[in-house]
Amino acid sequence: MARCYSRSSSATFLLPSSFKHEERISGRMLVLGRRYTTLIFRSYPSFHSRKQFEFKFSNGYPLNAVSLPDGLIGNSSTEEPFENRVEDGSVLLLEPGKAKSTLSITVVGASGDLARKKIFPALFALFYEDCLPEHFTIFGYGRSKMSDEELRNKISKTLTGRIDKRENCSDKMDQFLQRCFYYSGLYDSEENFSELDKKLKQKEGGRLPNRLFYLSIPPNIFVDVVRCASRCASSANGWTRVIVEKPFGRDSESSRELTRCFKQYVTEDQIFRIDHYLGKELVENLSVLRFSNLVFEPLWSRNYIRNVQLIFSEDFGTEGRGGYFDNYGIIRDIMQNHLLQILALFAMETPVSLHAEDIRNEKVKVLRSMRPLQIDDLIIGQYKGHLSGGKSYLGYTDDPTVPNDSLTPTFAAAALFVDNARWDGVPFLMKAGKALHNKGAEIRVQFRHVPGNLYKRNFGTDLDKATNELVIRVQPDEGIYLRINNKVPGLGMRLDRSDLNLLYKARYPKEIPDAYERLLLDAIEGECRLFIRSDEVDAAWALFTPLLNELEERKIAPELYPYGSSGPVGARNLAAKYNVRWGDLSDEDS
Ligand code: BG6
Repeated sequence: MARCYSRSSSATFLLPSSFKHEERISGRMLVLGRRYTTLIFRSYPSFHSRKQFEFKFSNGYPLNAVSLPDGLIGNSSTEEPFENRVEDGSVLLLEPGKAKSTLSITVVGASGDLARKKIFPALFALFYEDCLPEHFTIFGYGRSKMSDEELRNKISKTLTGRIDKRENCSDKMDQFLQRCFYYSGLYDSEENFSELDKKLKQKEGGRLPNRLFYLSIPPNIFVDVVRCASRCASSANGWTRVIVEKPFGRDSESSRELTRCFKQYVTEDQIFRIDHYLGKELVENLSVLRFSNLVFEPLWSRNYIRNVQLIFSEDFGTEGRGGYFDNYGIIRDIMQNHLLQILALFAMETPVSLHAEDIRNEKVKVLRSMRPLQIDDLIIGQYKGHLSGGKSYLGYTDDPTVPNDSLTPTFAAAALFVDNARWDGVPFLMKAGKALHNKGAEIRVQFRHVPGNLYKRNFGTDLDKATNELVIRVQPDEGIYLRINNKVPGLGMRLDRSDLNLLYKARYPKEIPDAYERLLLDAIEGECRLFIRSDEVDAAWALFTPLLNELEERKIAPELYPYGSSGPVGARNLAAKYNVRWGDLSDEDS
């Protein structure tokens, strides 16, 4: 009963609907009509034809199975009529030349900081690397009045990033900018989105349209934009996806409400909730490290690991973002999402496969096994002004956009626990702060002491100094190192702490792509493994909401720490409560 149409690199099979509920059969499968399910097997989607050997979904699977609208469009050389759509069971023929798809990306909130600093540069990097389809258009959408030329001028200033050292950059940049346009409209106006739709259609020129909306806007207008975009500017026969930036709400209730409102207009698989930490190279590598190295996985439990530390620090304050930040604070800004996501990936059980749902299922299990954070396991701080090296640094509340009496934490340290068989009793210590003495993000895994250590005398009374520590440095200077004890060469018996060190820039000459590049590419490909599912957001908020409410109700004052310091002393006390020392501070201690 199966029909088969095949070309050199692809084959489309129509199978009886008994397969309707199957998720995948060695490729991606999309339910199309009531009667048929279409499977697409291809060696490559058309727009990657230039670099076929390199591109993979971020799950490491080759890009040989793509969702229908991309998949059926074939590669650009298709000249034969193509059985392309199935509506209510019927198969339509597309004319030659119309069988190509096009991608329209609309960056909503195009004049904002994130768009300028991250989204447009990432799109340019993808274009530079030939990762965008042959036919694509980028629209900036915002309230400010701007011409296409003004948008191009504006974004051209930040289209440098890691690309600028390469040859041919200015040619590529010009080509890229010629594909960028601007439309000024209101965020809640269906009429304006209908206008946008017309403009998109003009650029799409009759090709099969796929549309991606990137919501780089304040959360209070998310729903308006999703409503307008879905009603008036979504693709009629291709796919439509929406990337949503955090914060996904402020607490359990608001986040659930946001999801409920979204789902009136789009389905869960159209929503790509971005947490850009999941796109960072070393975070991506966590699963590889764990699941493809025999030396690590057996140690990855309470039997050998004493504590895990997740540390984020920035050496600058909230300058320029005080208005936003004061409504959220560091717990919502960094802990509830970036650090918690890393924790979930770190602690999850081996997933059934590398497919998005399998991985996200495991992450949710971790989050649901965790105890909600207790006030006694939390320290909060806020930076104050400081004079250093003749320069004065303003305190958090000196920012004119922040109320003078603000209690919003700019620093927090917390102890969390995963109450399952693998992690019972192991403290997961998190620390996140702004305006600290350094900038970085890392995971530190401290192992237990060696029982009956023959060399314990060589460490004096401080056995912590002999602890093995695995450090995964997410940024800067990406690297992984393992602290071991080693004999200092010579006739005596002196021990030394040394590092087995994998420094990325020494080992891998190629630049590391920015997290936004990976995530944008995944969203374009429909790969959602690195995006947050609604039940993950729910579980994450459940851990923090009671505590956030308590902090606000009791008006708990943060401990002040000087700008540029290592943060409140309370953080050390919290670690000491669990017999732990912060790995990033231990060199200072010794
Ligand atoms: C954002 C936070 O999500 O991440 C910012 O809102 C923070 O406050 C930023 O500065 C840090 O990202 P990165 O990639 O620079 O470490």
